[in-house]
Amino acid sequence: MGNRSAWEAASQKYVNEHEELLDQARDSSSLVACELELLGPLLASTPNVVHLQSGHGLDDIALVAAGARSVVGVDFSSVATKAAQRRADELGVHCRYVVAELPGAPLRDGCADLVYTGKGALIWLPDLNVWAADVARLLTSGGHLFVHEAHPMVPLWAWDEDVPRIRPDRGYFERSHVNDTFPANGAVEWQATLAEIITAVLGAGLELRHVAEHPEPFYRWGDLDAAAWRGQLPNTFTLLARKP
Ligand SMILES: C[S@@+](CC[C@H](N)C(=O)[O-])C[C@H]1O[C@@H](n2cnc3c(N)ncnc32)[C@H](O)[C@@H]1O
Repeated sequence: MGNRSAWEAASQKYVNEHEELLDQARDSSSLVACELELLGPLLASTPNVVHLQSGHGLDDIALVAAGARSVVGVDFSSVATKAAQRRADELGVHCRYVVAELPGAPLRDGCADLVYTGKGALIWLPDLNVWAADVARLLTSGGHLFVHEAHPMVPLWAWDEDVPRIRPDRGYFERSHVNDTFPANGAVEWQATLAEIITAVLGAGLELRHVAEHPEPFYRWGDLDAAAWRGQLPNTFTLLARKP
């Protein structure tokens, strides 16, 4: 199964869980502390936000609740975008969703004061240089790119609960591997090192304002308490860059 059809099938979860997600969206609590700390000053100026790979869209409701004037979500799953649009409409929140394969968002140049992305987004893009150039095109001068993403080391962490272990079938410098969690079904995850991600952002002409590595994962699977998530290892990073 290709990545797009794997995501179309997996996103059906957001349709099936409409009521639960609506309740979560009402809380507007999906943005975590390390996001709010960096986004707070940017959201104070009521930016127009573009969320690339918007998925279930819970973060869009939270971004508007925290100050964004509007959010346009772009995702290649028509199932996910439709579910997110329904939720935003039911809550009366100013979010609009566009179905499109990225990079190459069908939005006008300079339309975004803030491009928000992450939480399992970059791993689906084989060429981050092309992605970063598209982000730079979307941003208005003085606008920001914000990324809160899985750390590129994460594919190496086994989820044993006793001690942290490195998976022997993975390598930090590999280009890709087959996803074995969500959406699975043979979807291919692309790998880029932290240096390659930063180099792509700089290569698109953006100024790096912040980059930090964090021990907390952005998502935990059910009751699992993996040793790799207990603080010794990096599980996420945040990045903020500005278009001059
Ligand atoms: C793990 S989800 C994360 C999205 C969002 N941040 C969230 O928390 O729901 C990844 C999303 O990327 C989308 N996606 C993957 N590859 C894509 C591509 N090339 N173009 C557009 N969307 C893509 C999938 O449909 C999916 O909704």
